[in-house]
Formats: sequence, structure tokens, C-alpha cells
Amino acid sequence: MENLPVLKFFADFIEAELGIIYVEANYYQLEHRLKNIATQLGFADLTELHRSARSGIVGQLRTLLLDIATNNETSFFRDGAIFKALSEAIIPELIKSDKKRSIDLWSAASSAGQEVYSIAMEIDQARKLNPAIPPLHILASDVSETILKRAETGSYTQLEVQRGLPARLMVQYFDKNDQDEWVVKGNLREGLTFKKLNLLHDWKNIGPFDIVFCRNVLIYQGVENKTKIIKKIWNNLNPGGFLVLGAAESLFGLSQDFDQIVHGSAVFYRKKAS
Ligand SMILES: C[S@@+](CC[C@H](N)C(=O)[O-])C[C@H]1O[C@@H](n2cnc3c(N)ncnc32)[C@H](O)[C@@H]1O
Repeated sequence: MENLPVLKFFADFIEAELGIIYVEANYYQLEHRLKNIATQLGFADLTELHRSARSGIVGQLRTLLLDIATNNETSFFRDGAIFKALSEAIIPELIKSDKKRSIDLWSAASSAGQEVYSIAMEIDQARKLNPAIPPLHILASDVSETILKRAETGSYTQLEVQRGLPARLMVQYFDKNDQDEWVVKGNLREGLTFKKLNLLHDWKNIGPFDIVFCRNVLIYQGVENKTKIIKKIWNNLNPGGFLVLGAAESLFGLSQDFDQIVHGSAVFYRKKAS
């Protein structure tokens, strides 16, 4: 492959920045994506892109590189059982154990926002049955600036809302705009904050949280990074706080600092006392 050193340069950047490894078998895919970036930024070819990148990967180039390396697959109420567990088990447990003034939740890889708005809808519905549920504060974070901006707009195509959003909730919480997109209503955005955050970096000045959703992002990491991230989450959880992973993920071999809890077909974790 003629561009091998150039591709390796960008693959090394992606691995250092995100912990995501591009094996050589996937360099064709990387090359295709880098060529698109070169065109977008007005470079004649990959060699020119590389020349510019060697003097620093910053600004739009950095944003675009992180975008091509991340998988943003998500949907409303993805793996639905966990949202029932949230309203039926996690929230009741939290408000039982403490006179809470707010519920502080972190969605640590929020992608285009379907996860956070699903959480907000689930809790809002639960509050209609139990007005004692305190206000919800959600921090939504992602490493990709582009996807985070999308999450903040809270607007979704017909195809996106058809993936998991029940019609009764769509009419209750979304308005249709003149581009035929469904836009989250203002009341669902109350208490919501967005922040660019790389789970591999040190994160400061966030938390502590009662609940952390860290779903379908650790799968891209090696054991060492996963273990470090879980430890940092533990440090940012209140005593007795909850951790939710993706349906295909577990803490097995990563941490013994949590108790595993099963509710229906959902599995989640609770911080053990230190
Ligand atoms: C597959 S999506 C999962 C979205 C949502 N949590 C869900 O389960 O539907 C993974 C998200 O993790 C983000 N991501 C990947 N590496 C990350 C990192 N090191 N720090 C923070 N976010 C990261 C990606 O940008 C992407 O939006």
C-alpha cells in the first residue's frame, strides 16, 4: 500500500487520542475516510493533508479525525429494559435512601442525544406517578464535538424517531419543525448540560453523580483503559450510586468495587461502600 506511512501516522494519532486501534486490514477504510477529510479541508491529496498534520493536529482537522474514528450508533430507549429499571428500581432506591434535592446523572458517551432524552422522558413519566421524584440534572458528554452539537440541537429525522421512540412519547415531548424534523420540547431540556469530554483523559470539576450511564463505549477499549475508566467513574459516584453499562458489557474482570443488580432483564451496578 503506497500510503502506508501516512496511514500509520493517522492511525497512531487515533490510537493515542481514543484508544481505538486501526489494524492494517482496515487501512483501506481509513484511507477512504482521510481522503474525504482532505477534500473537505481543501488539500489536493493525502500527502498534503499529512504535511499539514505533521505540524499539529488541531482545529477542524482534529474534530474531523475524531469523528471518522468513532462509531455513533445509538437509538431511543436502546435496550429498553434498562430504562424500566431506571424508573422502577434505581430512582426509588435513590430517593428512599436519602432526602435528595436532585438526581445527578451523567451520560458519559451520549452520542446524538437519544440516550439522554430517553432518560429524561422515562423520569418525567415516572414523576407523573410519583411527584416526590426530585429534579433531574443530566450531564451529557462525548468526545466528538460534532455529535455533541447534534445532541444539543435535539432534532431528529423521521427515521431516527422511528428507532425506539413510542408514538405517544413523540407527540408529548417533540414538535415537528419546518424541515420535517422532530425537535425536543423545552421542558425536556431543563437541567441538561453538554460537555466535550474524552474518557481517556483526566476529567476534573464534574460530579459527583448518583447515576452514570456509560454504555457501548468501553467495548472499543483494551482492558487497561476500561479498568482506569471504571475506577474514575467510581471516584465520581456518590456513595450507593449506580453505574449502567451497555447490554452486552459487564464489569467482569474489570472491577470488584460494585455490586451487580438484576431487575427484569436489565443488569446494572451499585457502588460498594469503600
Ligand atoms: C456507540 S455510541 C453509544 C451511544 C450511547 N451511549 C448508546 O449506548 O446508544 C459510542 C459513543 O462513544 C463516543 N466515544 C468514543 N470514544 C470516546 C472517548 N474516549 N471518550 C468519550 N466518548 C467516546 C463516540 O463518539 C460515540 O458517540
